[in-house]
Amino acid sequence: MARFVAIEGSEGVGKSTQITHLIQWLQDQQIDVVQTREPGGSPAAEAIRAIAIDPTYKSMPDKAEVLLMFAARADHVENTIRPALARGAWVVSDRFTEASYAYQGAGRQIGSETIEWLERFVLGDFRPDLTIVLTLDRQVADGRVIARGQKDRIEVAGEDFYRRVEQAYLDRAALNAERTVIIDASGTAEAVHQRIIAAVQEYLF
Ligand code: TMP
Repeated sequence: MARFVAIEGSEGVGKSTQITHLIQWLQDQQIDVVQTREPGGSPAAEAIRAIAIDPTYKSMPDKAEVLLMFAARADHVENTIRPALARGAWVVSDRFTEASYAYQGAGRQIGSETIEWLERFVLGDFRPDLTIVLTLDRQVADGRVIARGQKDRIEVAGEDFYRRVEQAYLDRAALNAERTVIIDASGTAEAVHQRIIAAVQEYLF
């Protein structure tokens, strides 16, 4: 059966590595899987992403930012995610709506009610079957972000912003425990991969 999995977490938690390993593992199980990301994941949504994270647009209001995220999401769901699920494929997305609750709702302090409203407007009842939230000690994660080089427009936000983002991911996971799992992203990539596989098997098989 087609499944939609979103992988979330703050910057530097090892999301990309884990997504690569998860995709490989699903393919090893003979599962047809589409890898995608947000903001982005369809031609128009990728164009919106370029604007949303471009550091040139320093003065972009938070309201414009949140609307860009949901504009990209509307296109991504319609043109990439739903068609893939309809043909029976799994979809693994690097971020989805939980990122808007965390970054715009909490980080930018727009408030979760506005995100809820936009979520309902754009998605109706459509939600991931499972959201995996990777968590890691902030100092370890920061070290990885610095090692990666240039930051995007949203990544330059300060320490308090990231504290709010991380707390929101945890609070939202508690609220939606039936479709969200928090995974400790410390230790080796292989150890984290095994934790993710265990969760996928528990929730989705
Ligand atoms: P990435 O670093 O995972 O590629 O994501 C790009 C940036 O977009 C990252 O700083 C998180 C941010 N983002 C939001 O602020 N809100 C959202 O809804 C999404 C999907 C991403």
